[in-house]
Amino acid sequence: MHIKTASTDYPINDLLRNRWSPRAYSPQPVETEKIKNFLEAARWSPSASNQQPWRFIIGFKGDETYNKLVDSMVEFNRLWAVTAPVLLLAIAKTTNHKGEPNTAAVYDLGQSVAHLTFQASADGLYVHQMGGFDAAKTIEAFEIPGEYRVMTIIAVGTIGDPELLHENLRKMETTPRERIKIQDLVFSGSFGKPSEVFNKQTNKQ
Ligand SMILES: Cc1cc2nc3c(=O)[nH]c(=O)nc-3n(C[C@H](O)[C@H](O)[C@H](O)COP(=O)(O)O)c2cc1C
Repeated sequence: MHIKTASTDYPINDLLRNRWSPRAYSPQPVETEKIKNFLEAARWSPSASNQQPWRFIIGFKGDETYNKLVDSMVEFNRLWAVTAPVLLLAIAKTTNHKGEPNTAAVYDLGQSVAHLTFQASADGLYVHQMGGFDAAKTIEAFEIPGEYRVMTIIAVGTIGDPELLHENLRKMETTPRERIKIQDLVFSGSFGKPSEVFNKQTNKQ
């Protein structure tokens, strides 16, 4: 079992269990077919009133879009993200078709990125989102209109050699993933009161 495989208390789908956010990417380009697949998965995500407020800007290593995205990153992210063959900018449209605020826009964008991630995982790819970049720089560089909110840059590719990473980052590739206890996340009756569901016997069919 890979060090990054989630050590779950309850069984979950292998795609979810094996997903993690790497920092060492292989320079191997991502097949165009797989890129189309994960963007299609993002497109078919649910959204409030079917507003579909997600937009993406895609860059490929060496092209102008990719370089603009790298330029906007904080130093820490630049150290590793430049190894990824594909970078995406994830953008939320914050207004609905009437021009009124869409309060679900960021929620819906996140969910569409989740769909993107699992389709990418199904195709053997790894996704790493990052918030460490200068959004204002990307707005200027890509001439993004005012009603759009830039949220994350997303690296996509296949796993590379952690030995090639900066020494500060290498250790992160081999550290197990951790999560808050499930009892501290799921409540019943009132906020903060753990749900009894985790004390119940699992139903036997
Ligand atoms: C919105 C968002 C912003 C993130 N920003 C960064 C970032 O700037 N740099 C980075 O290295 N990782 C970033 N991450 C990755 C998280 O650190 C990572 O998902 C988390 O530690 C859990 O690890 P896992 O994805 O391997 O389970 C971000 C993830 C999300 C969803």
